[in-house]
Amino acid sequence: MKIAFAAAEAVPYAKTGGLADVAGSLPKELEKLGCEVKVFIPKYFLIDEEKHKLHYNWDIGEMPIRINGITRSVHVLQSILPGSNVEVNFIDCPHYFHRHRIYTNDVDEDERFILFSKGVIETLQRMKWAPDIIHCNDWQTGLLPLFVKDNYNWDRLFDETATLFTIHNIGYQGRFSTSVLFNAEIREELFYPNGPVEHNGTVSFMKTGIVFADILNTVSNKYSHEILKPDLGAGLDGILMERKEDLYGILNGVDYSIWNPKTDEYIPYHYSSEDLSGKIKNKRILLEHFNMPFEVTVPLIGIVSRMVAQKGFDIFSEAINNLMNLNAQWLILGSGEDQYEQLFREIAHKLPQKVGTYIGYNNELSHLIEAGADMFLMPSRYEPCGLNQIYSLKYGTVPIVKKTGGLADTVHDWDELISFGLETGTGFSFNHHTGYALLTSVQRALNNFKNKTVWKKIQLNGMVKDYSWKHSAEQYIELYRLAKKKRG
Ligand code: ADP
Ligand code: GLC
Repeated sequence: MKIAFAAAEAVPYAKTGGLADVAGSLPKELEKLGCEVKVFIPKYFLIDEEKHKLHYNWDIGEMPIRINGITRSVHVLQSILPGSNVEVNFIDCPHYFHRHRIYTNDVDEDERFILFSKGVIETLQRMKWAPDIIHCNDWQTGLLPLFVKDNYNWDRLFDETATLFTIHNIGYQGRFSTSVLFNAEIREELFYPNGPVEHNGTVSFMKTGIVFADILNTVSNKYSHEILKPDLGAGLDGILMERKEDLYGILNGVDYSIWNPKTDEYIPYHYSSEDLSGKIKNKRILLEHFNMPFEVTVPLIGIVSRMVAQKGFDIFSEAINNLMNLNAQWLILGSGEDQYEQLFREIAHKLPQKVGTYIGYNNELSHLIEAGADMFLMPSRYEPCGLNQIYSLKYGTVPIVKKTGGLADTVHDWDELISFGLETGTGFSFNHHTGYALLTSVQRALNNFKNKTVWKKIQLNGMVKDYSWKHSAEQYIELYRLAKKKRG
């Protein structure tokens, strides 16, 4: 099967969150399973051409693409995804992508991803490569299914091309003013109240993807049900209900060639479920790095996250005084909303022995925290999948999570299972989105930490779990088949 995989970010080139991990790893697994995959991402300014060995594709050359009535010259740089033969195509248009951030609040943010989506299609045309599937990811690629079925449906090349739209996070929808209709050359008849591209008076890229894709999925089973209800549907639950029969949940996998304490290139001491001794050495190094004292009996709780309300920093703030009174140390890596950055800066300043904070993005440190911390906290309000808790399981870093979305699908509560006579738990979890519920789970984790035998059992239960991509990639291939059938 031929798959064109389009996303706004991919590891190792450009990353703000889990979408990049998925786009940099699922295609490799699909290739192993016999698919021919071409990945498409924008060529952002920050992508290092030399380091990643990008080269200009002369066969494609310069493509004139009209956006907002202006014709831009667009070309394609290519490379190969490390550890595979997957071709990566970087859609390059300096006017739109040579900026300092992957996502911007600039007035032409819509145009940037209209250009990207059109760039994908025009590249496929020049390659004369008819994919069986265009696999679209999140709002930035939401217009692609419409383009295939409408703007470019004159091209016989795409007669048998179906589209799959993967929702990684319904909270980010790409909603813009009606000028999108002109900018993207979308037929005005498609815009009317509750029409296929309209959402509360705006043009919604996410909704367009949901309406026009042949098949839809989200990144965990639980989240695929949660978004059908107003509470977590972010205003799109109604339209999703209409497409309920075509909506699936496939849990993200993990690239264990990157995220494995046995081989992780960023951590000083390797370890595994057979020999955990390296873990505590990493903890020592990590604490030294933050000038914090090391004490074997004091657990270290890690957080690596975008600092936004979705990730549960509201309830963390609510419980902060009680949390800081516990016998634990904290390491927090992340960036995002000012109020949360400020809060973590302040507590690190106030309690330097107890709290270490790094505001910003730091890939190496994120690996070291996974390896060196004893516990990992993810109190998300909602979490489509979440990857850090899955990494944490492999690193013997016991996750404490809210029971939502992918967190609920991947972390099994130790105490809850013990009460059923089972010692199969892998972490600690809570149901209610309150500071109190969060605090109680952290306290439960700390109590269990005191019992070395129990703690090791919880760690090992998690470490032997296998969340590699194989199974999920097979499920994607099933969805591709289904999408093809739908397309007829
Ligand atoms: P989301 O995509 O919603 O942010 P995920 O848990 O799916 O959440 O993925 C987050 C990814 O981004 C993980 O690989 C995590 O390690 C990484 N990450 C998040 N914040 C940072 C940061 N400040 N520095 C380095 N890596 C980060
Ligand atoms: C989104 C979600 C996160 C998920 C990631 C990759 O950013 O917030 O839960 O793991 O996409 O699918």
